Amino acid sequence: MNNIQILIIDYGSQYTLIIGRILRELGVRSIILPPKKVDKWLASNTPKAIILSGSNYSVHNEDAPDLPSSLDISVKENKYLILGICYGMQLLAYKMGGEVERPLSNREYGPAEVTLDTKHPLFKGIPEKTEVWASHGDTVVSLPVGFSPIASSSGISAMTDKENHIMGIQFHPEVTDTKEGKKILQNFLDLASCVKDWSATDLIFSIQNEVKEILNNKTKETGIVQNVILGVSGGVDSTTLASILVPVLKERLICVAIDTGGLREGELEELKINVKSAGVENLFIIDAKDEFIENISKTIDGEDKRGEFRNVYKRIFEEQIKKYNASFIVQGTLATDIIESGKAGESVMIKTHHNVGLSFEVEDLHPLRNLFKYEVRELARSMNLPSSIYERNPFPGPGLYLRIVGTPVSLERLELVRQADKTVADIIKKYKTEKEISQLVVALLGVNSVGVKGDERVYGYSLAVRAVQTVDFMTAKGYYFKEEIVNEITNALTKHKDIVRVFFDMTPKPPATTEFE
Ligand code: XMP
Repeated sequence: MNNIQILIIDYGSQYTLIIGRILRELGVRSIILPPKKVDKWLASNTPKAIILSGSNYSVHNEDAPDLPSSLDISVKENKYLILGICYGMQLLAYKMGGEVERPLSNREYGPAEVTLDTKHPLFKGIPEKTEVWASHGDTVVSLPVGFSPIASSSGISAMTDKENHIMGIQFHPEVTDTKEGKKILQNFLDLASCVKDWSATDLIFSIQNEVKEILNNKTKETGIVQNVILGVSGGVDSTTLASILVPVLKERLICVAIDTGGLREGELEELKINVKSAGVENLFIIDAKDEFIENISKTIDGEDKRGEFRNVYKRIFEEQIKKYNASFIVQGTLATDIIESGKAGESVMIKTHHNVGLSFEVEDLHPLRNLFKYEVRELARSMNLPSSIYERNPFPGPGLYLRIVGTPVSLERLELVRQADKTVADIIKKYKTEKEISQLVVALLGVNSVGVKGDERVYGYSLAVRAVQTVDFMTAKGYYFKEEIVNEITNALTKHKDIVRVFFDMTPKPPATTEFE
């Protein structure tokens, strides 16, 4: 698959994800990384350009996020074409000797009219006066040496160096309220000589070709037509991958699903329906509930639980590889999983994902490894899968095991979170809010506290309800339920004899991850 053309450095603006989405709409692949992860990523990747996002920091804050050291803008031959947006522009200007201030008179929040230098390639084909969306307290009041202003409103709204190599925009081109924002970003992509590389059809072909090539080589080596194992969960990633591989592998595609004991209510039935709609004929379901529970209940540490899950998962797949004489195994692992499990070279380990870096005896292929969830949803649409699949919210492989926190996993507690998850999901559906939520997490917190039920003291558990909104799960915003939904969820969940409290968790990611473990 092609290299990623644009690196977006996320300084924490609420609009960063939108930059990525607009670029995809313009047909160009990008990756969003926090500043800390940029140097390592750039050591093994060569994007055509870099965009610095906005932020709620001021460059004058003591803990203001800095430019990664690989973006040494003091070096004349800085090899990257850079566009700073809002804080990104202020940071560039400040680092190069310009002045950034918080003037009392010309703070801009909301719509603003700017006058553009339409001779500059960034503003090519755009009317001289246009409405933009601004949201900044700080402003660049004097430019670094060698820079000139190319847009103005009540102050400097955009800047460029002589070579059009480092540019900055004070307003937000990624927001729809900036009328010509998409055109500005397209102009930037043209300046960076980006080519359209985000086409669902091309991606589908390239995945099919990658798998076909490995299969042909293996078949040539051994003289025997080979089988391929695909781990399926019924989720959007593995179901989409199955639908892409069925036309290439046909009956040689062996789909294996594991009943881990950590599935949600009705999930196994849903899995069968989804995998069937992907055209799969060979689906084998392995019941390994006892083995998973026995091993995971040994510990309450989040990482150790993931480790135990992974060991059992690996053992089962090794057994299946032998049983079906498979020459390689394919998994629907995404870029997010690989980055967060610290296997992407650029990232620290956040949590061990159950299916990344397993070192099977046979080759382990992850054809979706460069894609994000929203991109896989596009592939699913192109494969004509039902909307129940491409709109499906994700659920982690280790499932409900990750949602029993601080207390050992047991059959009874698994059943408690399973029913609690169903209760909350049903209420959300009843209020028709499920489309506003990217993922729902209902977790049992193993901290006992006092409650009163039927005039009696109860010393029981708490449940945490967490819903998030996100495009790519690298960052997420906590979702605020309406009061009546909060009340209905709380009432329904505390009906259980052992539950005395319900917490609602709106912490964004970062700092909190989506799951509790
Ligand atoms: P976090 O908790 O890291 O989760 O913000 C991001 C997304 O990944 C899912 N997730 C996993 N999916 N195996 C998976 O298949 C895993 O080990 C795993 N851990 C987290 C999580 O549910 C969310 O959608």
